[in-house]
Amino acid sequence: NRVEAWTRDVDFLLRQEGRPMVNLTGDRKHVRVMEADWQNTDKAVNWIKEEAVNLIQPFVLYLGLNLPHPYPSPYAGENFGSSTFLTSPYWLEKVTYEAIKIPKWSSLSEMHPVDYYSSYTKNCTGEFTKQEVRNIRAFYYAMCAETDAMLGEIISALRDTGLLKETIIIFTADHGELAMEHRQFYKMSMYEGSSHVPLLVMGPGVKEQQQVPNVVSLVDIYPTML
Ligand SMILES: *[C@@H]1O[C@H](CO)[C@@H](O)[C@H](O)[C@H]1NC(C)=O
Ligand SMILES: *[C@@H]1O[C@H](CO)[C@@H](O)[C@H](O)[C@H]1NC(C)=O
Repeated sequence: NRVEAWTRDVDFLLRQEGRPMVNLTGDRKHVRVMEADWQNTDKAVNWIKEEAVNLIQPFVLYLGLNLPHPYPSPYAGENFGSSTFLTSPYWLEKVTYEAIKIPKWSSLSEMHPVDYYSSYTKNCTGEFTKQEVRNIRAFYYAMCAETDAMLGEIISALRDTGLLKETIIIFTADHGELAMEHRQFYKMSMYEGSSHVPLLVMGPGVKEQQQVPNVVSLVDIYPTML
């Protein structure tokens, strides 16, 4: 099931979690969907404006965002997991639906048993229409756009205080999101979608648009499996 299942009761195995689904909330003016992340972003921005500007020593600020992780789905029963892709029309309108690729799936009988098992526990072995898959991916991209806006607030605060020129900003995550690739969502799989994490760096001495070939770090693997 996952690495941590080894430490649990075997009854835990083969239980299905909630089926991945989308939920559109609020209206076209609803920006702050993931409120807790926005509150933490506000705290970080205020700290930059009120504290960081007065520091003589260098500083490190860590902001741990939950987005674009899918949300918990308590309506899906006892073993629900986090299978809800939640956004507002404000963010969804930023997504170009026509550009969304629909991943090709093997038939259930062709799947490797390990993949089938993952897909089954994630409640993805049922019927999914193309439109349903496209929607889940669109909502995921909208959630990425909301995350991006939070990062923008941090960069703006650094720019407004004059700290940007001397600050290195690193954006990364502990796992990716399959978003219905390989008939799965979430992580707990070594496929590219879940194990390929973003690593973006900006700051003094870092050239614009520079890319390094894929680097896989062992550090990434554990959270991806969990
Ligand atoms: C799994 O998905 C089916 C629909 O495909 C749903 O009826 C069922 O309740 C889901 N299981 C859980 C645990 O949410
Ligand atoms: C959709 O999200 C809203 C806002 O978080 C929540 O109040 C509502 O219960 C959710 N609906 C479903 C079906 O999950």
